[in-house]
Amino acid sequence: MGHKFVMVGGGSTQSPGILEVLRQRSEELDLTDLVLYDIDEERVSLLGQYTKMYYAETGSSVNVSYTTDIDEAFIGADYLFMQIRPGLNRQRAIDEKICIQNGVVGQETCGLGGFSFAMRVIPAVMEIIRKVKELCPDAWILNYTNPEAILSEAIYREFPEAKVLCICDMPISIEGAIAKYFNKDLRDLTFKYFGMNHFGWWTNVYDEKGHDLLPQLREDVLSGKIDTLLQSNEETKSDQYWIDTYKQMISLFKRFPDYFPNCYLQYYLTPDEMLEHDDINFTRGDYVQQGREKRIYEECRRVIAAGTAKDSSLHAGVHGNYIVDIAYAIIHNTRERFTVNKKNHGAISNFDPEAVVEVPAYVGSMGAETINIGNIPTFQKGLMEMQKAYEKKTVDAALTGSYQTALEAVMLNKTIPNYTIGKKVLDELYEANKDYWPVLK
Ligand code: G6P
Ligand code: MN
Repeated sequence: MGHKFVMVGGGSTQSPGILEVLRQRSEELDLTDLVLYDIDEERVSLLGQYTKMYYAETGSSVNVSYTTDIDEAFIGADYLFMQIRPGLNRQRAIDEKICIQNGVVGQETCGLGGFSFAMRVIPAVMEIIRKVKELCPDAWILNYTNPEAILSEAIYREFPEAKVLCICDMPISIEGAIAKYFNKDLRDLTFKYFGMNHFGWWTNVYDEKGHDLLPQLREDVLSGKIDTLLQSNEETKSDQYWIDTYKQMISLFKRFPDYFPNCYLQYYLTPDEMLEHDDINFTRGDYVQQGREKRIYEECRRVIAAGTAKDSSLHAGVHGNYIVDIAYAIIHNTRERFTVNKKNHGAISNFDPEAVVEVPAYVGSMGAETINIGNIPTFQKGLMEMQKAYEKKTVDAALTGSYQTALEAVMLNKTIPNYTIGKKVLDELYEANKDYWPVLK
């Protein structure tokens, strides 16, 4: 019997890249059945019909189907790739505007954009994992759903025994750019990284001989030799947001040269500079809705109307390859090294053992075994501790519906300057998210 894979949130704009990698690598994954599952009937039907035609016409023997019925999707499943977005990018843009209006960061995983997204997503994901436990308890869940930092805290707290691995493609994307800078094959380099999701640092970049390349990168940045890194990621390298972000990442490294930063630290260390770039009339959420969303569903409609996918193709990138590489490592017990989010349990020696952290791990059929990073310095530790307290309080708020807890979470977010603004943004976000957040009392 081959494997049944389910894309949870299969109608998402993030699906096509994963679908392409699954098609290309179906044999090595022993993938025989692929189900696109979503609560959005229109989107899953568009992507589902497209995928069925595309797979069949490219000679794939994988049996593709799509459904809004969770039981049908989950029964017999072996691997679930989860990437859901309650409220879609529409709600993302609404959150961004409320935040920007109040002069604070609205990014969907950082600042209060991330808080709001977490309040929408946590209840939905808890429900999905309960269903997995009931219908396919042996299945592995690989989770890409954002805000991954907060969500992973909720998942591992509520389901400590579940077979879930929470991942993000940002570390591997940045590692690809570093490899490119040194003209190296990414697979020949070994990276040492610690932090939380969208909130971490690289301490070392070892080459194939064990020589650390990070000091060289630091020297090149400090001496002004480089002010950005070329991206290895086809999907993002012509996108102005990512071009600016990679530049800002180097600029952060220049100002805090101890460790190389994850680009998302820009929202915490230079929020003023980020807000200068923001356009309240055209946020990232607007951009994605008018760009990727339109393009993907229009292409599905065109192919369906034409009755053939022969002049259409999907693009495989880092995002799709990373999740499939991890599934492959589990299936074939390769014990390859990946960066994942898991409970600390001593990986960072001087950090809360029960907190979820993002660190390298060897992944095989038993899951991910994290490596020890040792002690981390006071600057990074201090930032992480406050952020972790914020994440935990956000999870508490989502699970208990306590308004006071939500307010405390908001105040722990570094992007919030004072009570007046914190409370105002919280109340406005709540009002705008009545259909999605738990009732707060
Ligand atoms: C990276 C991050 C993801 C995030 C995505 C945003 O891949 O790791 O967590 O969802 O960027 O992309 P978007 O085009 O939706 O702004
Ligand atoms: Mn991410």
